[in-house]
Amino acid sequence: MLPADDVPEPIAYSDDRARVDLAQLLALYRITWWGAERTLDQVRRALDHSHPVITAWDGARMVGFTRVISDLTYRATVWDVIVADTHRRRGIGRAMMRRVLEHPDLATVGMFLLLTKDQHRFYEMLGFRTDHDMCMVFRRTPAGGAASPKDPHGKDA
Ligand SMILES: CC(C)(COP(=O)(O)OP(=O)(O)OC[C@H]1O[C@@H](n2cnc3c(N)ncnc32)[C@H](O)[C@@H]1OP(=O)(O)O)[C@@H](O)C(=O)NCCC(=O)NCCS
Repeated sequence: MLPADDVPEPIAYSDDRARVDLAQLLALYRITWWGAERTLDQVRRALDHSHPVITAWDGARMVGFTRVISDLTYRATVWDVIVADTHRRRGIGRAMMRRVLEHPDLATVGMFLLLTKDQHRFYEMLGFRTDHDMCMVFRRTPAGGAASPKDPHGKDA
């Protein structure tokens, strides 16, 4: 088990996907460089196929979000970890990630994977490590072929 949370009291956490407010989620994506162009239909579909989905709430305001794609047995990938600008550096990102790593439906998962270009320190604090030898990525272009490494089509944080 990871150490106990040190999150300020007013923030509530949920793993109820049905509770996600799509309008507020789109607003959170808008503040990222990698998710700003996502549409309501795309986001709803992605959400329908993600589990668990973790949200952080300051009253009625959704101030944090992350989602997992997993076989619920061996492997899990963590996507779209976002905390509202106004609520950063208060432990909310860390608390959401702990809820992912300790989620009962992921109890047997032995490997958690994620992509990041600029938030390594945040994930390292949680125990993630960069593995240059293992990671391979195939980016698909709109035409269906493989994108060049500099193709802006693949916007993954
Ligand atoms: C990354 C992100 C989710 C972190 O959320 P957060 O709630 O601010 O993070 P926490 O307060 O839980 O931070 C926990 C620790 O992570 C580290 N950390 C968090 N943000 C950091 C940053 N910008 N630079 C360096 N370290 C950072 C610190 O060690 C921090 O502990 P400290 O505040 O006691 O020093 C948030 O900055 C964010 O939403 N960024 C924009 C979206 C994004 O890029 N998401 C990641 C996609 S890969």
